Amino acid sequence: VTAEKAGFDHFMLKEIYEQPKAYRDTMGSRIDATGKKVVLNEIGMTPEQIKAIRNVHIVACGTAYHAGLVGKSVIESLARIPVETDVASEYRYRSPIITPQTLVIVVSQSGETADTLAALREAKRNGARVLAITNVVGSSVAREADDVIVTWAGPEIAVASTKAYTSQLIAFYLFGLYLAQTLGTKDEAYIADVVSALQELPAKVEHILAQSETIKGVAEQVSTHNNLFFIGRGLDYHVVMEGSLKLKEISYIHSEAYAAGELKHGTLALIEEGIPVIALATQGDLFEKTVSNIKEVKARGAHVFGIHEEGEAELAKVVDQVFAIPATLPLLTPALSVVPLQLLSYYASLARGNDVDKPRNLAKSVTVE
Ligand code: G6P
Repeated sequence: VTAEKAGFDHFMLKEIYEQPKAYRDTMGSRIDATGKKVVLNEIGMTPEQIKAIRNVHIVACGTAYHAGLVGKSVIESLARIPVETDVASEYRYRSPIITPQTLVIVVSQSGETADTLAALREAKRNGARVLAITNVVGSSVAREADDVIVTWAGPEIAVASTKAYTSQLIAFYLFGLYLAQTLGTKDEAYIADVVSALQELPAKVEHILAQSETIKGVAEQVSTHNNLFFIGRGLDYHVVMEGSLKLKEISYIHSEAYAAGELKHGTLALIEEGIPVIALATQGDLFEKTVSNIKEVKARGAHVFGIHEEGEAELAKVVDQVFAIPATLPLLTPALSVVPLQLLSYYASLARGNDVDKPRNLAKSVTVE
């Protein structure tokens, strides 16, 4: 068993550390030799079929759903096609408007989640084309979808998903760029810039992992609380949703992820002296607004742990502790900013003496609806 964990104490930690490799493998030959564009030979859709897409529905459960929330921003920003992201167990029951011009993207690490599979079948019954993003070649989802982008994260054993989520993000970046190339929504120079920034991500993740001791210190403080908040705006909001889920899954600490601007509409009532708030502030255009929201919780006694980009000097002045991630394009930050949150959950779970890899009540793959 120790050998399988390659010297790590838990599968989760091993899988967190495997992310640079998972990013490289998922990008692999999908970036052409010039390093300037994306090649997705596995996509059978013709350029005409891609041009006919009127809307995209992304459907998934759990952590894969959170990847799908980022996927929505990625596709809308790169390809300018309207996207909705749904939890699979809700999707079928809300009579979604699915037409043959709808592309339904199902995201599933295992490819066997019952609700996701049922959503895929519903989409096909309504004539939509289905693209699967999955980590398991030959899974039910992979077999039934029209097109498949495999995430090459390798087997994920820990119940709490880490490298599968980030590989799903990489798959969305690649697919978004592919759509942009086909539709002409972004020019070649822009695409080349994003591709080059994507290729720098693995080394940047390694840089974050090298500072895991800092996160461990924060996790040990967090582990003594029973309640905390995560806040962020835009993509940061979607990343903190994943951070909060991860923390709940393995530390059993209650937390809520809030869109920072929405706090004042209710949740602010729960902020009291000493409560930890984890604030993600990596999105330059939203930075000032996030800082105002941080000041709102600080004024009510919260202890704020802020995550920002290297080189940004303001956040340190308003929060109690800061952690910097390497700078990248705003669209790509989720692939970096989630890493300290994964480490935070891991070390908080460890500090509480929980079974990190096998949390109570949860299963790796849920094959009942
Ligand atoms: C379970 C797992 C989660 C996972 C979700 C979806 O609940 O515990 O970690 O995100 O299923 O799994 P999938 O295999 O479809 O990505």
